[in-house]
Amino acid sequence: MQQSISREALLNAIRVRLAESPVVALLGARQVGKTTLAEQMAAAWVGQTVVFDLEKTGPLEALRAAPERLLSDREGLVIIDEVQRMPELFEVLRPICDSRQRKAVFLLLGSASWELVKGVSETLAGRIQFVDVAGFSLSEVGGGELSRLWLRGGFPRAFLAEGTGAWERWMESFTRTFLERDIPGIGSRVAPAALGRFWRMLGHFHGQTWNAAELARSLDVSVSAVNHYRDLLAGTFMVRVLPPWFENLGKRLVKSPKVYLRDSGILHHLSGISAMLELQLHPRYGASWEGFALEQVLMAHGGREAYCYGTQRGAELDLLLLRRGRRWGFEFKCSDAPKTTKSMQVALDDLKLEHLWVVYPGTLRYPLTEKITALPLLEIPGLELQTP
Ligand SMILES: Nc1ncnc2c1ncn2[C@@H]1O[C@H](COP(=O)(O)OP(=O)(O)OP(=O)(O)O)[C@@H](O)[C@H]1O
Ligand SMILES: [Mg+2]
Repeated sequence: MQQSISREALLNAIRVRLAESPVVALLGARQVGKTTLAEQMAAAWVGQTVVFDLEKTGPLEALRAAPERLLSDREGLVIIDEVQRMPELFEVLRPICDSRQRKAVFLLLGSASWELVKGVSETLAGRIQFVDVAGFSLSEVGGGELSRLWLRGGFPRAFLAEGTGAWERWMESFTRTFLERDIPGIGSRVAPAALGRFWRMLGHFHGQTWNAAELARSLDVSVSAVNHYRDLLAGTFMVRVLPPWFENLGKRLVKSPKVYLRDSGILHHLSGISAMLELQLHPRYGASWEGFALEQVLMAHGGREAYCYGTQRGAELDLLLLRRGRRWGFEFKCSDAPKTTKSMQVALDDLKLEHLWVVYPGTLRYPLTEKITALPLLEIPGLELQTP
């Protein structure tokens, strides 16, 4: 029997937003558990619930034929799954949201970003709130599972797979379905093999500054093609594009984003890594930790106002988070006992950071200087990003 992992914090975030807005959208990659969360919401809902799954032809055609009639007089919780299949729905929802007679709230589930599903961006402005759903986080699976979560990634079926063989098979089938069915499903005509090559190649550049020309050369395609591939993978939540921070500091700053595969399990699968020992010996060991820990920070503290920072002379900061007008720095170090570096000091001074956290896999929190602390990844969710 498959184990079930409780996601109370996410369910709570959905509940709070549904009490505040007529529409809540759960957005996240394929297979992260969106439908399961919606089912759990429905099971606990007091009152009527109805589900339209737009992956199924019947509900999709019915909604296309008579959307107002099917949606406007509803009561209770209305769940619409796979909304990216019907972007025109947003136009229909707008007057329903604004109606005084409205008795329903709408929970929309989608696996492609608004930018990718054209024409829907502003339609529901002011009426919609978002909840980002990623794979399992460290706080959901528990600190004792850190290595497993890092190695296998957070997709529920990948994380819970019984044995390495089952994990590999799930990854193989997931990546293939994603390329051959999900990407065409959002209206893209990119050849699956070309996007697959790009995805794998991006694994080699994981955690590096985006260099479209270099990738285009390696793949023998145009620069605009690699930019398009990147946007497709970012818009389907497979890739993280971390924008660069710049301000006038009198220094030459790096003005390109950094790019990561968001799920460490996918990175490992595409890199042929299936055991911890292989990961430890792999040239991308440090980069893998960086991406994994970065995603955990952004899951716990939100992905908005998050930047990378680098100067042309080589000083760098993995992550700058702006929260309530204050600046927090994060470095991700996969070592037993991280130390300070010159680069950390430069970033601390340049950016006037409140504090710099050096996030590592250990269990002991200890000060490195007055403003730099070595922090176990386990302590990320409880970290208070405000001055005492
Ligand atoms: N909390 C959980 N604990 C255990 N297994 C889970 C959990 N959430 C999801 N799963 C399993 O992961 C798989 C994917 O979940 P689900 O269908 O909810 O994801 P989804 O995001 O809706 O995927 P898709 O975008 O492909 O529709 C399912 O087999 C589901 O049973
Ligand atoms: Mg689903």
